[in-house]
This record gives sequence, C-alpha cells and structure tokens, in this order.
Amino acid sequence: MTNLVDVVTDVVGTMNAIDPGVTDAQQSTGEAAPKPFVVTISVRRFDPEVDQDPFWQDFEVEVFSTDRILDALHKIKWEQDGTLSFRRSCAHGICGSDAMRINGRNRLACKTLVKDLDATKPITVEAIKGLPLEKDLIVDMEPFFAAYREVMPFLIPQGHEPTRERVQSQEERARFDDSTKCILCAACTSSCPVFWTDNQYFGPAAIVGAHRFIFDSRDAAADTRLEILNSKEGVWRCRTTFNCTEACPRGIQITHAIAEVKQALIRGKI
Ligand code: SF4
Ligand code: FES
Repeated sequence: MTNLVDVVTDVVGTMNAIDPGVTDAQQSTGEAAPKPFVVTISVRRFDPEVDQDPFWQDFEVEVFSTDRILDALHKIKWEQDGTLSFRRSCAHGICGSDAMRINGRNRLACKTLVKDLDATKPITVEAIKGLPLEKDLIVDMEPFFAAYREVMPFLIPQGHEPTRERVQSQEERARFDDSTKCILCAACTSSCPVFWTDNQYFGPAAIVGAHRFIFDSRDAAADTRLEILNSKEGVWRCRTTFNCTEACPRGIQITHAIAEVKQALIRGKI
C-alpha cells in the first residue's frame, strides 16, 4: 500500500522536473524552451520638427523568434526611445492601423513574426509609401479615407423600410463575401505603383469597398458607384500588377475584385 511519504516524494519529484519556462506542449514533447536573441531593427525615422529628411536608425532588440515586429517596436519604444512613433490598436490583425513596409513589403506589424524574416540581417521597418509622411512610421491616412468615402461604402436600398429583414440567398451573399473582409489598412493602395505616381487614383482599397456594395443584391446604387469608378481616376488606371493582392493581410483577391468591376462596366450589368 502507498504511504503518505511516498506520495509526497512523488509530487516533489514531479515538480522538480517541471521547468517553469517550458510550455505544457514542450514538456510533453521534450522540446527545449525557446531562447531570446538579439536582432537589429532598422527604422526609417522622421520628425518634421527636427529633421530635414528621413534617416535610418538601428536598434538592437532582444526578441524571441515567435515575437511579432510590433513586439520589437514596443520594446524599442518602452526601453530605448520613447519618441519612436507608430500606430497600432488591436495588435491582432483586426483594426488595420499598423500597416508598414517591413523588409520592403507592406505587412501588418502585428501579424509579422520575427521567425518568418531573415533575422541574421537588419530588419528594415518604414512607413507605407504614397501617403504624406507625418512622423516615423505614421502617415496621413486622410487621402486614403477620402477616396473610400467617395465610393459611398454603405448600403443604399430602394423603396420603403421593410417590415422584415432584407432576404438574400447564400449565392447572392457569396458574390461579395471576399470584399467584406477589408480592414482598411491601406497595405494594398500604398503598394500600388499607379497610386505612388498619381494619388488621385482611387486605389485598390476604395475599389474593394465599392465592390462590397456593387455586388450586394440588397443595394440599389451600383450604377452610381460604377459611374464614379468609370472616371479618369477610377478602375481603368489599374495596371494589374497584383502588388495589392500580394500585400493584403486579409488574403482578399483584390485584382479579381477590380476585374469584376471592370467587367460590370463593360457589360453594363452586374
Ligand atoms: S483590401 Fe486588404 S490590403 Fe487593402 S485595405 Fe483592405 S485589408 Fe488592407
Ligand atoms: S494593430 Fe490592429 S491590425 Fe495590427
């Protein structure tokens, strides 16, 4: 029969075998705990009150491979330089506020893991292109939102307010499902070479916003939106470079959505 001393000895032995830095999964697989290492984060800085031009500044940051670039930026701000400026809110890929150019590609800092980049070289972080630079990683988003507002990104139904919900089939809903996923991060528009040279162009995000309602069977203003996008700065400026589709953190098939809008204009029907 097991006595009390044996039970206590077993429990203490088990507790001693548990490393507090090791997760349950690692404990069961015998995997070693991840170790931090130092990476160089090279940030393109600009303070309009002090600097004539932007410049690159290197920071040495201790990170885990599973950290996000947003974590590294927080460490810089909290531990090395409180003046470093960037936007972020949700930290989980939902609010769209931390799009930036990381190693030359538009991405969300909160969804970019250190382990997915080459950490043996400096990781470059700079503001997205094509919008006025305000400070460090912050740009003026107003031109971007102005284009979005112009396409009337809200439901405009016809007739009187119904007494029950506006019914829609699954097939009708599926037509615009992809474009409902947009979080307005501007990664697409600010990766578009047409937008870099002509910021009057509506840009991919505004077209995705219009697509969302043009193909909604409950909406009655598709013709107005199509007319807006048929203008000089509308869909025909798209050169199908696919930069926008590659940059979108939500995986939206933006180039396909733009093509659908072009087809609707050519055929004169949705
Ligand atoms: S379409 Fe994608 S990349 Fe463009 S604003 Fe929306 S979520 Fe961001
Ligand atoms: S902080 Fe919200 S999407 Fe990255």
